[in-house]
Amino acid sequence: MSKTRIGVIGTGYVGLVSGACFADLGYQVTCLDIVPEKVEKINKGIPPIFENGLGELLLDVVLDRKLLKATLNRREVLDNSDVIFFALATPSGEDGSINLDIMVNEATAIGEELRTIDDYKVFVVKSTVVPGTTSGVITKALESGGKKLGKDFGIAMNPEFLMEGVAIDNFANPDRVVIGSNDDRSYEMVEELYSTFTCEKMKTSTSAAEMIKYASNSFLALKVSFINEIANMSEKLGIDVGDVARGIGLDVRISDKFLRAGIGFGGSCFPKDVKALNYLSQDLNAASKILPGVLEVNKQQPLRVIELLEKHIEIKDKRIALLGLAFKPETDDMREAPSIIISDKLIEKGANVVGYDPIAKESAKIAVPDIKHVNSVDEALKGADAAILVTEWKEFRKLNADNFRLMNGKIVIDGRRILNWQELIDKGFTVKVIGQSIP
Ligand code: UGA
Repeated sequence: MSKTRIGVIGTGYVGLVSGACFADLGYQVTCLDIVPEKVEKINKGIPPIFENGLGELLLDVVLDRKLLKATLNRREVLDNSDVIFFALATPSGEDGSINLDIMVNEATAIGEELRTIDDYKVFVVKSTVVPGTTSGVITKALESGGKKLGKDFGIAMNPEFLMEGVAIDNFANPDRVVIGSNDDRSYEMVEELYSTFTCEKMKTSTSAAEMIKYASNSFLALKVSFINEIANMSEKLGIDVGDVARGIGLDVRISDKFLRAGIGFGGSCFPKDVKALNYLSQDLNAASKILPGVLEVNKQQPLRVIELLEKHIEIKDKRIALLGLAFKPETDDMREAPSIIISDKLIEKGANVVGYDPIAKESAKIAVPDIKHVNSVDEALKGADAAILVTEWKEFRKLNADNFRLMNGKIVIDGRRILNWQELIDKGFTVKVIGQSIP
């Protein structure tokens, strides 16, 4: 039997990483995008986004093994694929609800093409969508050209659980594979793609798979907001929240994952997905009481570093260095990064803000255009009245008093709890750390 051929619609983080990883497993993959420059880059083996290991992987699967190809031509993807993944964006609307226009328009265009296609294909939604979407509007759009679900094509929902920065490793070593499908044929075609995976493969309805994705991200976001609340209390009580996180994390029912206190969660997923689930709960007349709290804690948390800073200096006209701007390390992603809230507030209070990020400089210039962007830690610290550690990049873990001596002032705020603060205090600095009471 010939190997299933894969199509991927959308070459963002999820689409491109998944496509490249499937190609690495030996599948022939054809990716669709509407942006010519992206398609061109991918076909040269160059990733249009920053993701660890993706450059090497693309060179291998595109140029050496010729298993992955990108195209602007929808028909080419359909003609060369048996299973087609939708990995398109599902942005948040103003009210937190998700906007499915991009997905539905694409599914409608595919439905039109299907008129003249005779072989059976399975369409798999990988994008995060609210329960009911795959079997509802997406199916309706695919059927709009006249072909019928079950007879002419199948559908499935296969959520992704990839973390930016470690996405390739997450793809290869997942905790589980969830396949939502309302018929056996579609399930089997998708399951076969994961046949070499040893983790549990779970079959559910498409709606349950959709809910699993929202509930996973919301639960992880809840853990982060929870530990941040505990951090804020611990700080006032003279307790190190790191001890508390370790202490509760040793309980296997809780686990120590996602209990790192700091300045809150950002990125393209947690904020959007918690908002969408919250909106859905209201829409269902089953309004969540927990999710608004998760969001509220997270809205305030970035401002904690400013609160700590203001205990020591008046911000107006001061030069404040931000170390790290990306929403987390190992990515250039600035979407919903806490650095945006922090720099906006500092500017509002009259500070001159200087920012340095090892990777995200270009995306940060767009997301936080009103700060000065520099090329090194030393440049950021030089002459600064205070420094705030915003993103826990590896290179910042090694910073010591010699680096901070370049500052004009002596105040260091650690928003991610990674600095060797005792050494800094011993050398005469005033250090404040989220979730840590330092006299
Ligand atoms: C998240 C999920 O972890 C993935 O499983 C999911 O596939 C992905 O969203 C998605 O829906 O596409 P990601 O947004 O890449 O992945 O980032 P995470 O590593 O989960 O971190 C999210 C945010 O939480 C970051 O701002 C991070 O700094 C923060 N965080 C995380 C904490 O503040 N403390 C922690 O203990 C963990």
